[in-house]
Amino acid sequence: MNLELRRLTEHDEAAYLKARSRWGLDTGLPFTSDFDASAPFKNYVQLLEDRRLGKDLAPGRVPDTHYFGFVNGEIVGRLSFRHELNEFLTRLGGHIGYGVVPEFRRRGHARRMLELSLPISRAMGFTKVLLTCADDNIGSIRTIESCGGKLQDKVDAGAGQPLRRRYWIHL
Ligand SMILES: CC(C)(COP(=O)(O)OP(=O)(O)OC[C@H]1O[C@@H](n2cnc3c(N)ncnc32)[C@H](O)[C@@H]1OP(=O)(O)O)[C@@H](O)C(=O)NCCC(=O)NCCS
Repeated sequence: MNLELRRLTEHDEAAYLKARSRWGLDTGLPFTSDFDASAPFKNYVQLLEDRRLGKDLAPGRVPDTHYFGFVNGEIVGRLSFRHELNEFLTRLGGHIGYGVVPEFRRRGHARRMLELSLPISRAMGFTKVLLTCADDNIGSIRTIESCGGKLQDKVDAGAGQPLRRRYWIHL
């Protein structure tokens, strides 16, 4: 498997739209946030770039970078890296979040995306990153642990929600 992890460019519109349309609703998570299908795609690329640079962030939002996993020109998944931890991210969200397009799951893509993201975090000056996942999300637990995640604790994630595992990966 030859997966490339990188940011979007203006040339990725078709791949982005295809992955977005196949994302499905099973997870309750959006493919990516704040995408406006009626606006030119380059505006969305710029929005993500502004977020990366911390420009015009909404209150409470921290700078983040969105990466996408490309295999044979198709987007198989996405990974976001938050450059800082606020109170919510410290407790429940963590530095890194990811998801794989349903039809591409169970092929090692989540693990590979996370693996490829770690040297990027290290190059940005981080010595450790926080990852979290639901206590019943076996796929995410295995992904994090196979990349060296050490369980810190499990915290209450709210009524009706499974406990949230918090892991640190030392870089
Ligand atoms: C969790 C998720 C990211 C895993 O993606 P994936 O590409 O299928 O994972 P991989 O193929 O890289 O598998 C990584 C490990 O998890 C295991 N795994 C993946 N999905 C699994 C499942 N549903 N049940 C059991 N094990 C699973 C794999 O066997 C592999 O284990 P191994 O390292 O021991 O061999 C994917 O199911 C997904 O996008 N889910 C919805 C969004 C989500 O939950 N994101 C994480 C939020 S914390």
